[in-house]
Amino acid sequence: MKKYDENVVLAIVLLLSMVLVAVDLLTTRDAHAEYGDVVINKYSEAAGMRPVVFPHWFHRVRFRCKVCHADLGFKFEAGGNEINMLKIIDGEYCGACHDGDLAWSVENCDLCHSGAPGTPTQVHESTLQKLVAPTGGKATE
Ligand code: HEC
Ligand code: HEC
Ligand code: HEC
Repeated sequence: MKKYDENVVLAIVLLLSMVLVAVDLLTTRDAHAEYGDVVINKYSEAAGMRPVVFPHWFHRVRFRCKVCHADLGFKFEAGGNEINMLKIIDGEYCGACHDGDLAWSVENCDLCHSGAPGTPTQVHESTLQKLVAPTGGKATE
């Protein structure tokens, strides 16, 4: 009787861990599908800067779509906006928030211009880490 119980318990434990692994795989995959970084490289590399990596999901969980796509006028298209540093410093586009008040300011070039050289404008399904070149990223702040 005792032996039988142990086997049943073992079987249940095994089954449960298989279910947990399966659920984990599924949710991980969902999270990745949502994590679309936008690379913007219309002018950056031509001007000697690394491409810009905009972590869309990171921003989406903090702000409503309307804030950027209506109030700030970002068009719903990777590369669909005419963004440059003059406008940003003037408080347009990224500069509406990256002003050293609401978010870190425009002096942190490498935090935005962090893309691996040669990456074209696109919606990238990978994580920020995969796109950011080893020398780019947060090291400067
Ligand atoms: C903090 C600002 C910000 C917020 C909030 C934001 N977006 Fe975006 N979105 C952008 C920027 C910047 C781009 C890229 C524009 C470019 O490349 O010029 C973009 C691009 C897009 C695109 C085109 C690229 C793609 O993924 O196909 C879609 C669609 C989109 N956004 C939908 C949304 C939706 C839906 C929400 C709300 C759930 C949202 N955005 C919230 C800034 C934002
Ligand atoms: C509506 C406000 C808003 C706009 C517009 C906005 N950002 Fe941000 N962004 C934030 C805030 C808030 C943070 C978090 C700052 C902090 O952690 O101190 C942030 C963080 C970031 C980060 C760091 C993400 C991380 O993993 O820590 C990057 C990169 C970034 N923004 C790039 C951009 C670029 C490029 C644009 C324009 C295409 C942009 N942002 C437009 C508010 C904004
Ligand atoms: C908050 C994000 C952000 C920060 C910080 C930032 N940039 Fe940019 N920058 C952008 C975006 C977005 C574009 C448009 C990208 C494209 O279309 O290629 C851009 C474009 C550029 C361009 C090409 C267009 C132009 O204006 O000539 C240059 C050069 C540039 N940045 C230099 C810099 C330098 C230098 C710094 C630091 C002093 C800096 N950027 C900081 C987001 C940022």
